[in-house]
Amino acid sequence: MTDDELVAYAKAARKKAYAPYSHYHVGCALLATDGTLVTGCNVENIVLPETICAEKVAVLKAVSEGHTQLEVAAVVTDSEPPATPCGGCRQMLHSWGVKRVIVANMHGGQTTYEMGELLPHAFRLTELPDQS
Ligand code: THU
Repeated sequence: MTDDELVAYAKAARKKAYAPYSHYHVGCALLATDGTLVTGCNVENIVLPETICAEKVAVLKAVSEGHTQLEVAAVVTDSEPPATPCGGCRQMLHSWGVKRVIVANMHGGQTTYEMGELLPHAFRLTELPDQS
């Protein structure tokens, strides 16, 4: 799948965003190493801290369906320049193997980051005792 195709899936996912409080719509598309595509959008809740980011929805969908090795993420907002994932989502994407993150907006803006640029000192499983 091309980067542009992945961004198109993230744009489609963004249309499903449930964001009546922030009015900020986010879509995410993930490509797993097995070629599976998984999408997500942000889902807000009246109890605001229960809101879930689009990237996290997509990662949890993928992992819960058995796709635990991810490769590329596309994230679409309408920010100028295109917004990058929040800190928690960077950690989630990193933890499941995402190597590249494409961020795009609805006006043709698009940038690709290496995961290491977005989260240079990620927390890893090896930080835990008895995991080395
Ligand atoms: N949001 C995401 O979906 N992903 C991010 O990386 C940052 C923020 C959502 C959460 C909330 O619904 C809205 O954007 C405003 O913060």
